[in-house]
Amino acid sequence: MLRYPIRCAGVETESARIRQHGLTCAGLHCESSIDRECYSAKNLAHSEAALRKIHFRKSEILRDNNNDSLSNDHRQMNISHLSGQFEKLFGTRPQIYRAPGRVNLIGEHTDYNDGFVMPAAIAFSTYVAVAPRRDRQLAIHSEQFPDSFECELDNLPQRRTGSWWDYILGVALELRRRGLHLSGANLLVHGEVPIGAGLSSSAALEVASAFALMNRTETSLPRPEIANVCRQAENNFVGARVGIMDQFVSCLARGGHAILLDCRTLEYQFVPVPAGIQFVVCNTMVKHDLASGTYNTRRAECEEAVRYFAQWDPAVHALRDVSVDLLNQHAADLPPIILKRARHVIFENQRTRDAARAFAQGDMLTVGQLLHASHCSLRDLYEVSCRELDLMVEAAEGLPGFIGGRMTGGGFGGCTVNLVRQEDADEFAAQIAQRYRAGSGIDPQIYICSAEDGAQALTTTSPVRNPA
Ligand code: GLA
Repeated sequence: MLRYPIRCAGVETESARIRQHGLTCAGLHCESSIDRECYSAKNLAHSEAALRKIHFRKSEILRDNNNDSLSNDHRQMNISHLSGQFEKLFGTRPQIYRAPGRVNLIGEHTDYNDGFVMPAAIAFSTYVAVAPRRDRQLAIHSEQFPDSFECELDNLPQRRTGSWWDYILGVALELRRRGLHLSGANLLVHGEVPIGAGLSSSAALEVASAFALMNRTETSLPRPEIANVCRQAENNFVGARVGIMDQFVSCLARGGHAILLDCRTLEYQFVPVPAGIQFVVCNTMVKHDLASGTYNTRRAECEEAVRYFAQWDPAVHALRDVSVDLLNQHAADLPPIILKRARHVIFENQRTRDAARAFAQGDMLTVGQLLHASHCSLRDLYEVSCRELDLMVEAAEGLPGFIGGRMTGGGFGGCTVNLVRQEDADEFAAQIAQRYRAGSGIDPQIYICSAEDGAQALTTTSPVRNPA
C-alpha cells in the first residue's frame, strides 16, 4: 500500500480508497488538468485558476497524517520529481524551496487593521526549484502551466502583466528595492495549494520564490522581513491590498502550533494545538478572488472608520486603537455600514486574544464558542461570508468530535476550518461532505490536516537548513 501524507480517505474504508487512488489524488501525480481556455486569459484570476486545477473524484477527502516521516516521504517525492523535471528543462540540478499554505483559526480581517491573527501552516505547499545562470536573465516555468516567462533582471516589468508569474516578479522587484543583488536564475514552480480556496496559494508562491531568488545573494533577510517583502509584492505589484498574515505564517510557522501574531509590532508567540485535535478544512468549491475588489473595499471602509475615530482621539491610527468605549460613544453617529465593519474588527481582536488564552488552557469549549462568534460576525457585520460558507458552518453542528468552526481566509467563498477530535475526524469529514452536498448540490473537498512547519530549503534526501 502506498503511504502518502495527504491521502484519500474516502467515504468507504480508508485503506481501500488509498489502494484505489494511490498517488493520483494529491500533489505530484494528481489528476491535474490545465484548463486550456485559461492559457490565453488576460486576467490574473483566470491564470490562477489554471495554475492548479485539479479534478478530484466525488466526495474526496484528503488526509495529512501528521506524521513526520510520511510528510517527509511526500516531500521527497515532490522533490525528486521536481528535480528530474528541472534537469530535463535546464540541464542542471536545482536547489528546492518549499513554502506552505495556511488556515487561519481566528482573527479574520484584522491584520490590515494592525490587529491580532492566529493562523497555522498546513501541508499543502508550493515548491520552487532554482539554479543560477551565467547571464542576467530570469526564466520562470511552472509544472502546472505550459506558458513561461523570461526577461532581463535589470529590465523587469514595472507593472503587472496579469499572469501567475506576477507574484514572482513582484517579489524580485521588492528584493531589489531593498538593495539585494539578484543573479540570473532559472525557476520551476510546483504548486499544490488549491487556488482560490482561501488557503493562501499566493503567499506560498511568493514566499517559496523569495527564498529561491535569494538563493545566491550574499545578504539574507530575517524571516519577518521576507514576509514583508512578499506582502509588499502583492500590495504594490499584484494590486491586492492584503495584510501580513499569510506571508508571515508561511515563513515562520512551527509544526504542531498556531501563531498568535500582533500585526502591528510583528511580535508573535507559538500557541500549541492541543494533542488529539485536527483541523478539518472544508472547501465549498466556490472560488474567491481577492483581486476582485471587495477585499479592497473592506479595507477602505476600515480606513474611513479610522478617520472618523481619529477626530475624537488623535491616538487612533488603526482600528486596533479604538476601544469598545470609544466605539459605543460614537455608535449613533457613524454610518451603519462603517459601524458594522468597525464593530467586527474591534471584537474580533478581542476574540483572537481570548482564543489564544483558551487554547493554552485547553479550554476547547470556549475556543469553540469564539470560533462560532467569529463566523457570525464575519457573516453579519463584515459581510464577507456567502451562502455556501454559512451552509458548511451549519453542517458541522452536532457532528462527531466537533469543537468549533468558521469560515477561514478572506471569504466570499473558499473554505471553513473546523477543530475536530482526531478519533472522529474521518467520520466528521464523511458526514459534513454528505450534508453539504445535500444542501448545496456541490461536491466539496475535505482536507484533514494539522499544523506544519514554515518555509524551508530541501534537498533530494532530506530538509537541509532553514535559509534565514
Ligand atoms: C486574505 C489576506 C490576509 C487577510 C485575510 C483575512 O487571506 O491575504 O492578509 O487579510 O484575507 O483575514
